[in-house]
Amino acid sequence: MCGTDSKLGEMRALILVGGYGTRLRPLTLSRPKPLVEFANKPMLLHQMEALVEAGVTQIVLAVSYRAEQMEQELSDEAKKLGVSLVFSHETEPLGTAGPLALAKDILGASDEPFFVLNSDIICEFPFKDMVAFHRNHGQEGTIVVTKVEEPSKYGVVVYGEQGRIHSFIEKPQEFVSNKINAGMYIFSPSVLRRIQLRPTSIEKEVFPDMACEGQLYAMELQGFWMDVGQPRDFLTGCQSIDMQLYSAEGLG
Ligand code: GDD
Ligand code: MG
Repeated sequence: MCGTDSKLGEMRALILVGGYGTRLRPLTLSRPKPLVEFANKPMLLHQMEALVEAGVTQIVLAVSYRAEQMEQELSDEAKKLGVSLVFSHETEPLGTAGPLALAKDILGASDEPFFVLNSDIICEFPFKDMVAFHRNHGQEGTIVVTKVEEPSKYGVVVYGEQGRIHSFIEKPQEFVSNKINAGMYIFSPSVLRRIQLRPTSIEKEVFPDMACEGQLYAMELQGFWMDVGQPRDFLTGCQSIDMQLYSAEGLG
């Protein structure tokens, strides 16, 4: 058994990189969204570093847009971090679930659970806690949730005291709850049986079924979280991370 402070062993992760990032134009006209810098570093690098720190040894980048530029810039970074980086190319955008089917051979190569991340989120990544939480409930999936003021822009998660998710509603028209999907998951490999190799939304087509079957749990995130794919959030995020860095260094 690994303690929470030690590395967790050979784990894998898939980062969903493929969106066009239209909401962040003009920044995304010349660079794919994950390479847009946030606090002086490409967004994706914040995620890769935290995954490596938690014991991830192989990262799949699910890409369908401007892959060449990303491959060049990130391969060097991966070498420095000592992590194996695999580019999984989609010939048509496969949505947020289809890329898992495309990378099935890698993600399902062992019995270990694997991480899945949206590429445009920034927070204090709770990867080690996710592993512990996931092993503890023992079901197929764990979603990290956070609280926001405007939940209609996100996937809303309704769950009970032990974290068992009762329903998942993507971009609800009416207020259901202010607890939302923070875009970080950990899954047992058996989840791959649910996903076909075709464009599929994990939020609309996979999570509702898993919730219905009692296979999905919510882990609450404490502290700072941002979807920096949206311009206003991107700017707010840059300001608050600056403030956090300053106060962490005793400068604020
Ligand atoms: N490989 C690949 N292929 N990636 C994709 C594709 C695709 O066809 N479509 C979207 N993605 C990636 C995006 O690049 C992003 O990293 C992630 O999937 C989610 O897509 P977004 O377009 O950013 O979705 P969103 O912000 O509206 O909503 C998602 O994130 C919220 C948290 O920020 C959902 O997961 C919500 O439920 C969640 O609350
Ligand atoms: Mg987003």
